Amino acid sequence: MVALLGATTLVLVAVAPWVLPAAAGGKNLKSSQKVEVDIIDDNFILKWDRSDESLRSVTFSFDYQKSGTDNWIKLPGCQNITSTKCNFSSVKLNVYEEMKLRIRAEKENTSSWYEVDPFTPYNKAQIGPPEVHLEAEDKAIMIKISPPGTKNSVMWALDGSSFRYSLVIWKNSSSGEEEIENIYSIRKIYKLSPETTYCLKVKAALPVARKVGIYGPVYCIKTTVENELPPPENIEVSVQNQSCVLKWDYAYANVTFQVQWLHAFLKRNSMNHSYKWKQMPDCENVKTTQCVFPQNVFPKGIYFLRVQASDGNNTSFWSEEIKFDTEIQAFLPPPVLKVKPIGDSLHIHIDAPKESGSKPVNEDYPFTYEIIFWENTSNAERKFFKKETDFIVPNLKPLTVYCVKARAHTMDEKWNKSSAFSDVVFVETKPGNASNIWLIAGICTAIIAIVAVIYVVKVLLRCINYVFFPSPKPSSNIDEYFSEQPLKNLLLSTSEEQIEKCFIIENISTIATVEETNQTDEDHEKYSSQNCQDSGNYSNEDESESKTSEEL
Ligand SMILES: *[C@@H]1O[C@H](CO)[C@@H](O)[C@H](O)[C@H]1NC(C)=O
Ligand SMILES: *[C@@H]1O[C@H](CO)[C@@H](O)[C@H](O)[C@H]1NC(C)=O
Ligand SMILES: *[C@@H]1O[C@H](CO)[C@@H](O)[C@H](O)[C@H]1NC(C)=O
Ligand SMILES: *[C@@H]1O[C@H](CO)[C@@H](O)[C@H](O)[C@H]1NC(C)=O
Ligand SMILES: *[C@@H]1O[C@H](CO)[C@@H](O)[C@H](O)[C@H]1NC(C)=O
Ligand SMILES: *[C@@H]1O[C@H](CO)[C@@H](O)[C@H](O)[C@H]1NC(C)=O
Ligand SMILES: *[C@@H]1O[C@H](CO)[C@@H](O)[C@H](O)[C@H]1NC(C)=O
Ligand SMILES: *[C@@H]1O[C@H](CO)[C@@H](O)[C@H](O)[C@H]1NC(C)=O
Ligand SMILES: *[C@@H]1O[C@H](CO)[C@@H](O)[C@H](O)[C@H]1NC(C)=O
Ligand SMILES: *[C@@H]1O[C@H](CO)[C@@H](O)[C@H](O)[C@H]1NC(C)=O
Ligand SMILES: *[C@@H]1O[C@H](CO)[C@@H](O)[C@H](O)[C@H]1NC(C)=O
Repeated sequence: MVALLGATTLVLVAVAPWVLPAAAGGKNLKSSQKVEVDIIDDNFILKWDRSDESLRSVTFSFDYQKSGTDNWIKLPGCQNITSTKCNFSSVKLNVYEEMKLRIRAEKENTSSWYEVDPFTPYNKAQIGPPEVHLEAEDKAIMIKISPPGTKNSVMWALDGSSFRYSLVIWKNSSSGEEEIENIYSIRKIYKLSPETTYCLKVKAALPVARKVGIYGPVYCIKTTVENELPPPENIEVSVQNQSCVLKWDYAYANVTFQVQWLHAFLKRNSMNHSYKWKQMPDCENVKTTQCVFPQNVFPKGIYFLRVQASDGNNTSFWSEEIKFDTEIQAFLPPPVLKVKPIGDSLHIHIDAPKESGSKPVNEDYPFTYEIIFWENTSNAERKFFKKETDFIVPNLKPLTVYCVKARAHTMDEKWNKSSAFSDVVFVETKPGNASNIWLIAGICTAIIAIVAVIYVVKVLLRCINYVFFPSPKPSSNIDEYFSEQPLKNLLLSTSEEQIEKCFIIENISTIATVEETNQTDEDHEKYSSQNCQDSGNYSNEDESESKTSEEL
């Protein structure tokens, strides 16, 4: 009820301001009124104002008209109403067809009718809260959600299996909430704490009709005392030589296991909670933590598998369900990496995992790539995830050897499959940003050029000084000196000096140029993998962790 009231505030109403005519006794009953149509699931409610006190003894009646007809029919449940709302849920309507409503107020004399804006019930209908059934285990809660509306709902008759649900779950004792979106009618939440009260609320949505419902009431449940036998963990299935090998971890000895399977599509049927898990033929009462069954037991498709342990007296709860896709699980080879340095950045290109026939493993499953890189000289790894296969890692240390490896993940809501890591690629970054090099080189050249010009000017000045203002010489053969091409000599000597300096200058700039070319030539260098330390250790990561539990 609280939820229903809450809903009315959200409802888009058909608003029809209407005015009561002058009624009996000449009393003027004119007052602006509104009629609202609230439809939640199969509940049809009409509401209107009666702010005016003079309308106390007035009664209200509604007529309706189906589309394509001209006759007004008395609206059952909405005749001679003294309050300000009525319920016409009992009327059998085609919810996809437009309908008209009219209202009149009566007080001794009959007033005239006023029409409400026509509307189509389905378009106006709000999704009510779904019904929720909870079952507790020691560390998990099973949530079964029934679609909104009654079993024989007319409003959602065609939508039953299109509903998707969102839920918010929290520990009663804490304020941290976890929201889980877009789930089907059965959902198990794992990795909870035993003997703890959890509360949750659920809302339904019809993505096709772009309708989002309202949260229903809060349901709480306490998880049970921890079971003596824990459920098997880390279940993995792999395909080898036409056989499927299902493995799991278990801490205790002397237990037997059984495995069950289910078609994945059965879970997607929002209406039905009554699907049955089936026994896996060769995996009954197995004493090892693995069982092998022929690959052809399952035709192509997607399945769920679960495992249970038993020690004769006690049975564990079922393990987490893992998804088994006969096609993709077969084998997911590692991706192939190509890495090129661009300045202090690395350009990484990933080739998606390919089957032997170089056909992509499955285009329906977009891969997420996990890229790990580290400096050759350190073990500090940096890791990130990418959906693209071509990207740049910027701002690395220049002239540093980096080691890069990657693996592919296929991820969806309940299932993770990962390839092995690719070979480690070693690559050395180039010296910083290319434009910086040119800038620095330019500045150096400019400085050298300025120094050179200053030097040349100075020498020339000295030369001119010497020629035109020679220091007095106590020699008698000045003329002789002059006659023997003194100027030529002098100029020669200065130019010799100049050449010497110029040579040095030239030399410097040659060295600078040589350095530059050296730097730019260190291109695309890759190093042998033996030299690099692979800090490994990542290929066995637990892949099926659910975030939910950690936060709860
Ligand atoms: C409503 O009132 C009218 C008279 O005002 C009466 O004839 C009619 O039977 C009443 N209808 C119901 C459903 O009470
Ligand atoms: C409206 O009437 C229907 C039966 O016709 C009933 O199930 C429903 O609860 C009623 N709704 C309200 C809000 O009273
Ligand atoms: C309203 O009813 C009164 C008697 O109850 C009558 O005198 C009057 O003419 C009626 N008015 C109309 C508009 O029918
Ligand atoms: C939730 O916690 C509150 C106090 O924190 C308590 O009053 C209430 O009974 C608890 N609800 C349930 C269902 O345990
Ligand atoms: C697959 O079969 C081949 C030969 O039949 C065998 O050599 C190989 O070990 C098998 N691999 C596995 C994982 O069983
Ligand atoms: C398991 O069973 C065997 C014999 O059935 C027994 O010898 C062994 O001690 C048992 N181990 C444990 C851990 O109970
Ligand atoms: C629900 O599943 C059962 C058996 O799995 C089947 O008989 C029944 O028809 C299904 N109901 C709906 C509404 O799908
Ligand atoms: C099962 O229960 C019986 C009686 O309680 C006990 O003797 C036996 O050891 C139990 N078996 C195991 C495997 O715990
Ligand atoms: C589990 O087995 C132990 C004895 O091994 C027994 O005490 C206990 O009651 C059993 N629990 C259940 C749920 O059967
Ligand atoms: C990586 O570092 C080691 C020393 O830690 C060094 O011996 C090796 O040559 C380096 N490899 C590359 C490719 O630079
Ligand atoms: C899948 O694996 C990734 C990376 O290991 C992890 O971040 C993510 O939470 C996993 N998802 C599920 C549903 O286990």
